[in-house]
Amino acid sequence: MPKRTPTLRHLLTTALLAAGALLAGCQTAPSSPMDEKAVARAPIEIQRMARKNDCFKCHAVGREKDGPSWQQVAEKYRDKPDAQGKLYTHLTTAPLIELKGDPEIHKQVEDLSKTEIDALIDWILTL
Ligand code: HEC
Repeated sequence: MPKRTPTLRHLLTTALLAAGALLAGCQTAPSSPMDEKAVARAPIEIQRMARKNDCFKCHAVGREKDGPSWQQVAEKYRDKPDAQGKLYTHLTTAPLIELKGDPEIHKQVEDLSKTEIDALIDWILTL
């Protein structure tokens, strides 16, 4: 079997297509207009962080995916003292969660400073 090495062009095209799909928010299912608007309003840095960390694989703003919608999260933590601190722990300590009925370790954010993670949490809590 001849080995097929992907060309740079091919890799770039794939990356661009993937980026386009993410930008359109249509990774698995078409997202609702509300999701798109909310994401569009998020500062560009926050969108980049969430995409880079695959958060939208399991979460959307206004509808449940494998994880709760971020509006549900905002609702759950509304008026709770230390919502920020609790979510910071959630995102940085890889807690055990339930995913489709099975125990699973939650995605831990990568390559983000405390300030950046705080900004992401702040945004989620405004939804
Ligand atoms: C593989 C799927 C998956 C990925 C990827 C994922 N999450 Fe989650 N997330 C979940 C599930 C499932 C829950 C529900 C956990 C529970 O309540 O037990 C959850 C819960 C949460 C919560 C609520 C925690 C709470 O205390 O109620 C927040 C906030 C959250 N995720 C943010 C994120 C962010 C930000 C990212 C990207 C860094 C991310 N998630 C990536 C599946 C995922």
